[in-house]
Amino acid sequence: MSDGVRRFSISLDPNLSRQLDRMLREKGYRTRSQAVADMVRDWLVEHRREMDDEEVAATLTLVYDHHKSHVQEVLTELQHKFRGTIVSSLHVHLDHHNCLEVLVLRGKGSEIRALADRLIAARGVKHGRLVVTTTGRDLPA
Ligand code: NI
Repeated sequence: MSDGVRRFSISLDPNLSRQLDRMLREKGYRTRSQAVADMVRDWLVEHRREMDDEEVAATLTLVYDHHKSHVQEVLTELQHKFRGTIVSSLHVHLDHHNCLEVLVLRGKGSEIRALADRLIAARGVKHGRLVVTTTGRDLPA
């Protein structure tokens, strides 16, 4: 155990503890500490995305029919307008009609959500999913 590690104990209902241990085995965790650290980091990221002013990184995945009215134009226009927020994008032609687009975003949580909402709501977009994560700063491994 390295210097600076903090130990604390937690009390759990035996049934809850058994279920936790079974889940950790299934997920391949070697220790409870490892698993709890992952849970805490996930919780911190989740909390941070609710704080509008915090900078976050995110991916937005969109599936749309490029034949549908102006969807491509709307998406391109928004991407040009928010070029400071959109770090990168990937486009895959799924079949004759359908396109998959993945945008990598970085910025304030509130701006990311607003942009994602507009893109997902654009006509012709069949499905969109925003995944907000951390920029990695202030989050020890
Ligand atoms: Ni395409």
